[in-house]
Amino acid sequence: MSAPCIHPSILNADFANLERELSRISSADAVHVDVMDNHFVPNLTLGLPVVESIRKVTDLPLDIHLMIEDPDVWAPKYAELGCESVTFHAEAAGAPIRLARELRSQGAEAAMALKPATGVESYLDMLGELDMLLLMTVEPGFGGQKFLDLVLPKIRRARKAVDDLGGNIAVQIDGGVSIETIERAAEAGADTFVAGSSVYSAQDPDAAIAELRGLVQK
Ligand code: DX5
Ligand code: ZN
Repeated sequence: MSAPCIHPSILNADFANLERELSRISSADAVHVDVMDNHFVPNLTLGLPVVESIRKVTDLPLDIHLMIEDPDVWAPKYAELGCESVTFHAEAAGAPIRLARELRSQGAEAAMALKPATGVESYLDMLGELDMLLLMTVEPGFGGQKFLDLVLPKIRRARKAVDDLGGNIAVQIDGGVSIETIERAAEAGADTFVAGSSVYSAQDPDAAIAELRGLVQK
């Protein structure tokens, strides 16, 4: 398993001051950007033009989490902008294998997300097509929700499948990650942690990142 990565989500950042907000997470491994379309989830955030602007003001890798319908159409457009990693939802993708291959052919990392109630078993045979598997630990749509412990067994099963494959596939979790929950998620096998409110509600987001990292770094 690779070294743990902390990806702060800017969902709870000040959207009127994104450049400043990005400078407060300089120790992050990547910036997690939540794209919502008010169809796949009941919330609306930002899209391509804002991501294009974010790209210009930070050198941190961009981890784009698409909570949208029609990712087969939209995800490649984020890869075209130079986003390092693009995550689409399995529940929304028409042809997830074709999409993952397209993203990789564009030079992006291909990632697929599963909502808390979506089983991982149907997707095990396509794990080799992915650079990262995102297991949502809240229902997607909003920051500040409570971590769902019922996802922990799925994280364990995914970890085992990734290890059995021997590939370099990250197991990311997203939702309710805090100093109270990060250790049990890591113990279950997650290695990449999205943290929104626990980072941006802190006085010093970089210090919050260091605290989270300290809990999972062996
Ligand atoms: C929720 C988003 C998350 C969100 C996490 O649908 O995908 O990335 O920002 O926020 P917290 O860490 O507050 O649960
Ligand atoms: Zn997210």
